[in-house]
Amino acid sequence: MNDRAKAAPSCVFVIFGAAGDLTRRLLMPAIYNLSRAGLLAEDFKIVGVARGEKSDEEFRAELDGSIRDFAEGSDSDGPWTWLRSRVNYLKGDLTDTATYRALGERLEKAGRENALFYLATPPSVFAPVIEHLGRAKLLDESGGGWRRVIIEKPFGTDLESAKALNRKILSVMSERQIFRIDHYLGKETVQNIMVLRFGNGIFEPMWNRNHIDHVQITVAETVGVEGRGKFYDATGALRDMIPNHLFQLLELTAMEPPTCFDAEAVRTEKAKVLQAVHPFGHNDAERSVVRGQYTAGTVNGKAMKAYRQSPDVAPDSRTETYVALKLMMDNWRWAGVPFYLRTGKALETRHSEIVIRFKQAPFALFRDTPVDSLTPNDLVLHLQPEEGVTVSFGVKKPGPKVAMRGVEMRFDYKDYFKVMPSTGYETLIYDCMTGDTTLFKRAEEIEAGWRIVQPMLDLWAGGAMDAPAPYRAGSQGPKEADELLARDGRQWRALVGPDRP
Ligand code: BG6
Repeated sequence: MNDRAKAAPSCVFVIFGAAGDLTRRLLMPAIYNLSRAGLLAEDFKIVGVARGEKSDEEFRAELDGSIRDFAEGSDSDGPWTWLRSRVNYLKGDLTDTATYRALGERLEKAGRENALFYLATPPSVFAPVIEHLGRAKLLDESGGGWRRVIIEKPFGTDLESAKALNRKILSVMSERQIFRIDHYLGKETVQNIMVLRFGNGIFEPMWNRNHIDHVQITVAETVGVEGRGKFYDATGALRDMIPNHLFQLLELTAMEPPTCFDAEAVRTEKAKVLQAVHPFGHNDAERSVVRGQYTAGTVNGKAMKAYRQSPDVAPDSRTETYVALKLMMDNWRWAGVPFYLRTGKALETRHSEIVIRFKQAPFALFRDTPVDSLTPNDLVLHLQPEEGVTVSFGVKKPGPKVAMRGVEMRFDYKDYFKVMPSTGYETLIYDCMTGDTTLFKRAEEIEAGWRIVQPMLDLWAGGAMDAPAPYRAGSQGPKEADELLARDGRQWRALVGPDRP
């Protein structure tokens, strides 16, 4: 990103939840990467707010560990020495008015009018913090500087709660000031979807129902629920991943070209995708959605306990750790083209990709080469951990007989570019400081995402559906997910890791 960019305007970066995991693992390393790339203003400052009693120096020493453990290729001099001297700590309870008064004094003392408030907190305090910021006039821009808030997911737990949170936010600040983050939009390969589609002449003419048979979007993880049992058991894979990360991928894959690359134009086209998703009725929700839960198994050679045996998970939990669904789109470009989405934990390999499966050649021209054995023409966008694009097609095997074989053309980012260390948050933080909202979500987009999944949440909450289908940790997911595609005469692309062809 430093190819294009100059240092962001100066500001005070306030982190609520400064003692938490997000700050340690992602935010501080990301801010550090920005400083290494020369993208922070000379008088940039950080104020970390948390409950514990500690001095500035103690807080800085904690962050030394965060940079050492989570920032790739970090050093102890140079950028970190500079950045660490810009860090201060404020002890405060986020539900106490005094905290915001003290913060206001700090901002005044820093003489800085621009302030960015990052809510790296549990979701239960999003609304109270925002209310307090409003009441303490910390969001007031009448002094000339800007005041912005970044809010993490989960944004609500269903449609009603998301609407309520949006109402609360918009009662104390304008839409322009709020930055609803989805870290998937900070990933280079995710941003590349738009560049690939709209910066090239060869893809877009085929990017529609005339040529595309179906689309598969996969975010497969090998990690289990780890230490997040309490959050996860109340959340599940659907809420955790679908209305946010997977819908972002869906939107970028299915959106119409915007009229220009400006935030409103891009966000408007993305929002239209969700509006076009065919609503689930009671029966569809049952037929088009599969949920699974992992049982004990082996992942990457290591034993993994069953989900129900994880700390803070109910022993009879019906929470899904895997979800697969089929969506149809009611619009001109995509009518009749299924989009299959799947995501799960404790799977065989960590692999995220978007597969565009093109329609087969219309008939079997070559003798002895039945059409059903033709190599599918897939354009695969590999998002992580490999980053690149492959196209698969059939070629003639050398020899006197006409026989076909599937081959792949492959582009790998690492072969062409020196990839800068990145957590995925750098671009998003920088964009917020420069006021670019393109990669952030508007209220309507969040609500549209929840509206699509709400019938499934209702169905599951009613207890009418069977418990999630079991799948072995380290497998490809429940067989019911295969059946979802098999009913349409299709199958998932196998989840393959970097070591398997
Ligand atoms: C988070 C989810 O938003 O995204 C996690 O809460 C999930 O459950 C994570 O593991 C996946 O992100 P990434 O960047 O590792 O694909």
